[in-house]
Amino acid sequence: MTNGALSLDQLFDGKRVHRSLYLDDTLFALERRRLFGRTWQYIGHESQLPQPGDYLSADIAGQPVLLLRRADGSLGAVLNRCAHKGSTLVTDRQGCAGRTLRCPYHGWSYRLDGSLIGVPNKDDYARAAFDSCEASRGLTPVATAAYRGFVFVRVSARGPAFEDQMAPLLAVIDLIADRSPSGRLQVNGPCLRMKLRCNWKLYLENINDTLHVLTAHASAAGAAESVWGEQAPQTPKPMAIEQLLPFANGHAFFERMGGRVLPGGHSILGTQASIHSAYGDLGDYSEALAQAHGPERAAQVLAFTPQNVIFYPGAAMKASPLTIRVLRPLAADQTLLEVWALAPADGPATLHRRGTTYNRLVFSPMSVVAHDDIHLWESAQRALAADGNEWVSLQRGWPGTEAADGPGPDGRDISGTDEALMRNQYSAWRYWMNLPDDE
Ligand code: FES
Ligand SMILES: [Fe+2]
Repeated sequence: MTNGALSLDQLFDGKRVHRSLYLDDTLFALERRRLFGRTWQYIGHESQLPQPGDYLSADIAGQPVLLLRRADGSLGAVLNRCAHKGSTLVTDRQGCAGRTLRCPYHGWSYRLDGSLIGVPNKDDYARAAFDSCEASRGLTPVATAAYRGFVFVRVSARGPAFEDQMAPLLAVIDLIADRSPSGRLQVNGPCLRMKLRCNWKLYLENINDTLHVLTAHASAAGAAESVWGEQAPQTPKPMAIEQLLPFANGHAFFERMGGRVLPGGHSILGTQASIHSAYGDLGDYSEALAQAHGPERAAQVLAFTPQNVIFYPGAAMKASPLTIRVLRPLAADQTLLEVWALAPADGPATLHRRGTTYNRLVFSPMSVVAHDDIHLWESAQRALAADGNEWVSLQRGWPGTEAADGPGPDGRDISGTDEALMRNQYSAWRYWMNLPDDE
C-alpha cells in the first residue's frame, strides 16, 4: 500500500483520512513506536493483583510487559524479558510468582521490583566484570502510574507524564470510582478476548459512531422490541431487554445524547443521556452512595452514564454498565480486543451482573450486536484495499475550519452524531505521528 507523495502531516486533512492509515505496515510500525509506545496504556485494575507476587502480563506496543505487586505492596512494571538472554519470565497472562521471579532457562532470579538476586554458579563470572555490565542491572523498568485503582504503563522512556496525558479524564475516573461507596472497584471474572481482522482505528472510530446503530443493529434492536412487545403488561423487564431496547432509539435520541471532544484525542459520548441512562434504580445502593459521598455527589455519580469515554488511543470505558475495552493492535489488519467488567466491590449483585451481562450481550463476537459490527469492520478492512476512493470521510458536522473543530484547551460540546469525535482522534494521531522519536 502506498500513499503517493503524501507526508505524515497530510494523511489526515482535518476531515478526511487517507486509506493507508488502515492498511500500511510501515505506518503501523510507526504507530506502535510513536503513538502506543509513548502514551499511557491501560494494563489492568489493582483488584486483579491483591497479594505480593501477583502479576499481569501483556504485550503493549510490541513490548512484553509484566505488572507486579511488589513485596512492599506497591505496583511496578518491568519488561517480561530475562536480563541474561531474554527468555520470557512468565508466560501466563495472570498469576502469582510467589516471592521471587525465576527464569526458566538458566535459573537467574529476581526480586519483585526486578532487581537481580542470584545467578547460579556465579563464580564462573569472576573475571568477567559482571557486576558492571547491563545484565547485572536486572529487569528493565517500565513507567507505571495508577489512579483510583486503574493502572497504566508507558513502554517508551520518552513521553508525557501520566497526569498531563490523562488530565482531561481524571474527573471521569473519579466519577467511575465513586460508584463504590467505599471507592473500591473490582474486576468481575476473566475478560472476553478476541482477535479482530481489522485495523484498530476502525474499532476506535466505531465506539463514537452512533449513526450505525440505526442500520447495523436494527435487526437486534427490532428483535428485542418484538419479544418485549409480546409480554403481558407489568412483566418485570429482564436485564437483557433493559439493555437491548435502547438500541432501537432513533436519530433524534442519538443526536441529543451529546458529546464532548477533549484535548489529546480523548472524548466523552453521551454527556446528556445515552442508551444506559434509563436503567432501573437500585434503591439501597443509591442510598448507600448518598451516605458515603453526600447527596449531591451521589446524584452526580449516578447521572454520569456516558455511552463511551475514549482514553485515546487504547481504551474505552463505560460507567454503567461498568466496562472497559482495551485495544492491543497486532498488525495493520489485526487487533486484539479485551473486554473487562467491573463493579463496586461493595455494590449489589445486580450491578455486578450489569457489566458481565452487557459484555456478553453486546461485545462478545457470539452476541446479537457485536457480530454486526465485526462483519462490517472486517469487510471495510478488505474493501479499503481495493482501488477507488483514496479517502475516508469523517465530515459529518464539520464546522468549516480545523480551528473551530478542535477541542480547545478545555474541551468542546457537540451533538451525539458529530464525527468531530473521530476527527479529534485523528488530530491526536497526527500530533503523535509527527513528533520525532527523540521528543
Ligand atoms: S535467559 Fe534467563 S537465565 Fe538465561
Ligand atoms: Fe455497533
